[in-house]
Amino acid sequence: MEQLNITPLTNSFDIVIDNIASDKSISHRCAMFSLFSDQPSTIKNYLRGEDTMDSLRIAEKLGASIEDNGDVIKITPPKTLREPDDILDCGNAGTGMRLYAGLLAGIEGSFVLTGDKYLRSRPMKRVADPLRDIGASIDGREDGNKAPLHIRGAKLDSFKYHSPIDSAQIKSALILAGIQSDKKSYYKEDLLSRDHTERMLNGMGASISTNKDGWIEIEPLKGKLKPLNITVPTDPSSAFFFAVAAAITPNSKVTLKNVTLNPTRIEAYKILEKMGTKVSYIKNEDVYEPIGDIIVEYNELSGVTVDSNIAWLIDELPALSIVMSIANGKSHVKNAKELRVKESDRISAVVNNLKKCGVSYTEFEDGYEIDGNSTLKKATINSHGDHRIAMSFAIAGLLSGMNIEDTQCIETSFPNFSEILESLKG
Ligand code: S3P
Repeated sequence: MEQLNITPLTNSFDIVIDNIASDKSISHRCAMFSLFSDQPSTIKNYLRGEDTMDSLRIAEKLGASIEDNGDVIKITPPKTLREPDDILDCGNAGTGMRLYAGLLAGIEGSFVLTGDKYLRSRPMKRVADPLRDIGASIDGREDGNKAPLHIRGAKLDSFKYHSPIDSAQIKSALILAGIQSDKKSYYKEDLLSRDHTERMLNGMGASISTNKDGWIEIEPLKGKLKPLNITVPTDPSSAFFFAVAAAITPNSKVTLKNVTLNPTRIEAYKILEKMGTKVSYIKNEDVYEPIGDIIVEYNELSGVTVDSNIAWLIDELPALSIVMSIANGKSHVKNAKELRVKESDRISAVVNNLKKCGVSYTEFEDGYEIDGNSTLKKATINSHGDHRIAMSFAIAGLLSGMNIEDTQCIETSFPNFSEILESLKG
């Protein structure tokens, strides 16, 4: 089992980081959406993490040909997707499994989606049920709730579906199914979840728009889509670990380069601002979405209540819990039950690891209250196989030192995390 031993940082820093991992959500979508074109897509800065490389290998097993010169990845789609002669392994990626489930539900053939032990324990009925309702045949353990999932693709009906969960994975799975139907479909969520799917597919020529009643209208594809030609921006969720590093290290500042500034992705930076940190955003370009630099500067921190826009924070709440621990006064996270079904049960992983660091808290079914004003203690952290838990507590180690166990998971989203962490040392 791999380990990370973090020593406390004894210096402040003022650095520009331009090599943070590329966006995971956008990279997954590049691999999948390129299959809807009849021309090659060219992707620069594709995330070379385990999760997204798994999505690329699945595209290949479905018949795409992949050329990778180490810089640009060219994905040439097949004329029609091929029924693979083996299982499709999504590794640790919920995004990979749920979006491919929607995509494959509309393709004739037999497909088996599986993943690692963590992914195989995560709920899949949230996509299997609405897909079954429109004619897909999906089965798996616990009546189709747990992978391996067997999908027999079919011609799908259109739908009108109001999702009980604000989730980009569910929305994207249903959009990928909807564009393959013959009639217009409608999807609604209470809070707009990350909208890369809508932006990217529209950029490729699909028609997905939101009407005045908040329903997303999904038009069937009229033919093949235009290819993608994209430079994947920096992942704001990965960059956020270094935003937290600056927020908790007196007199420090970090400039995070070329990050997607999509409003559904930068809410955690807004929470840091609420807590007192100085944050500024400089938009440089617009390619499917706004992209630019985020500058984060240390300032005194105070506690905060986080009870809304949870879908916009779901990947960053573990890192925010470190900031909450040292801020002046209590912080409270509410309405965040979804955290329990991510790569790990993030509520229990956060509080149990904070406890080891000497932080006082109260756990609730839908969140936690953290007392604040803590001096973190060095501890041995269990990542629970969750990359975001491992990296959040590695950043906490800048204050006190930390041993993080089971750190292989960091490879899923941020392979050069340790290297950048090391570069903070003066
Ligand atoms: C993702 C959506 C989020 C997020 C995940 C990536 C995506 O999950 O946690 O890391 O790319 O669509 P949910 O949509 O299930 O909340």
